[in-house]
Amino acid sequence: MHIYLLQVSTTPVPRDLPLDLPLPEWLLVVLLIVSFLLHIIFVKLMVGGSIVTLWAEIKGLKNTDYDVFAYEVAKTVTVNKSMAVVLGVAPLLSINTLYTIYFYSANALTGLAWFMIIPLVSIAFLLTYLHKYTWHTLVDYKYLHISIIAMAVLIFLFIPMIFLANVNLMLFPERWAYIKGFLSALMLPNVWPRYMEFIGACLTVTGLFVVWYNGRQSYPVDQLYKTWHRNELKRLGYYITVVGLGLQLVLGLIVLISLPAKGINFEVIELTIFGGIMLLVAFWFAWKALSADNEGKRDNQFWKIATSILFFILVYGGSRQLYREQALHKHRTLMAAKTGAFEQMSKAAREHPNIENEGLEFNAALGDLAKGTALFKQNCSSCHKEKQRLVGPPVQEMAEIYNGDESGLKHWIKAPGKKRTDFPQMPGFPHLSEAELTEIAKYVFAVK
Ligand code: HEC
Repeated sequence: MHIYLLQVSTTPVPRDLPLDLPLPEWLLVVLLIVSFLLHIIFVKLMVGGSIVTLWAEIKGLKNTDYDVFAYEVAKTVTVNKSMAVVLGVAPLLSINTLYTIYFYSANALTGLAWFMIIPLVSIAFLLTYLHKYTWHTLVDYKYLHISIIAMAVLIFLFIPMIFLANVNLMLFPERWAYIKGFLSALMLPNVWPRYMEFIGACLTVTGLFVVWYNGRQSYPVDQLYKTWHRNELKRLGYYITVVGLGLQLVLGLIVLISLPAKGINFEVIELTIFGGIMLLVAFWFAWKALSADNEGKRDNQFWKIATSILFFILVYGGSRQLYREQALHKHRTLMAAKTGAFEQMSKAAREHPNIENEGLEFNAALGDLAKGTALFKQNCSSCHKEKQRLVGPPVQEMAEIYNGDESGLKHWIKAPGKKRTDFPQMPGFPHLSEAELTEIAKYVFAVK
């Protein structure tokens, strides 16, 4: 209990503005999950497609059929990108309304990187167009041409990192006080394995897309390729799928293991294991498709793979949502309590504007004490009240003990000892400046 209180005391608990949601909450949650899944499928096609394009164009230096393949995939990347952008609006708006305080806090803490998304996305999009439209004009400058898509790939690989760091950070209010920008948010547990799993998923989805795209009867495979036929192209698609699924399986396991305990409950584990089994099944079918000795057997696997992946995506999306809810539960309770207390206080203040309110412990201190009072409220009042014991002793008692000994008081605040046996240990405040400590001391000695 005491450890919990100590942790809470360093966790920022913002006050909410309780506004009505535009739709019932369950509907917004459904909208969030469904629209996000749609959006992310096209994001994966965009990222995976550009990686595959880069890879195939490099291989195309030796084998022209790879070059044709690269161009064919490149032409789909720009289309899938537009779909991803359009479909990104709905999930962004729903997460904003459902998790306002958490989402914005995370945005603010990773500020610069978060803002960078817009210019980075624009540059990457322009590069993919440049790459597509200069395919024939730069045919004699292949290395230059390849470096254009390589740049786009680098940016495409970086952007999901920002998003992931952000939506992950939003689940850890107790870390907010220590986060210094994007890089430190990136170092929170779970971000890297999730990122790598995401890259695997990009390849999985793109591989299946390649199989479908090239498998269409109206698609003129024989006119485009010198030696490849439909069957080889499908095999290539399954090859990409198998690599992606393999990555997902290995990294998914690491995600599960590194999932911070606070959001885990039985249902989350259950769903995640079920998702893992679906992935394994998909991998098994993809492997069969890859190693099949004829096109018919290969085709038999397509819908089996697609269906197991669809199940996996639904289960994974659901378990993430459960995890989010679970991880934020405690903090939301604290925030609701704080919001409730504030609303009560402001109601009381409105009803009795001139009468001192009981329960309003900190009378609006003016002039000389204003700063110290504010600092005390911000740093200390979660554990100290003026006249009663809370987690620590009342301010009155501090004032008596130190009785004007400012440097003794400051020393304690910076590095508290262990004094009372029936109290927990007080955390230190080494980050408070000398000037701030002076203000706090002024306030403490003013309490009678
Ligand atoms: C997380 C809870 C917590 C916070 C936050 C906290 N304190 Fe304390 N404080 C305690 C506890 C618990 C004790 C009693 C520790 C003991 O006696 O070992 C204590 C004791 C003290 C004492 C008594 C020291 C003595 O010599 O007996 C002073 C003075 C004090 N706190 C000042 C502050 C100030 C100023 C702040 C804000 C900068 C602050 N505390 C923030 C929990 C807290």
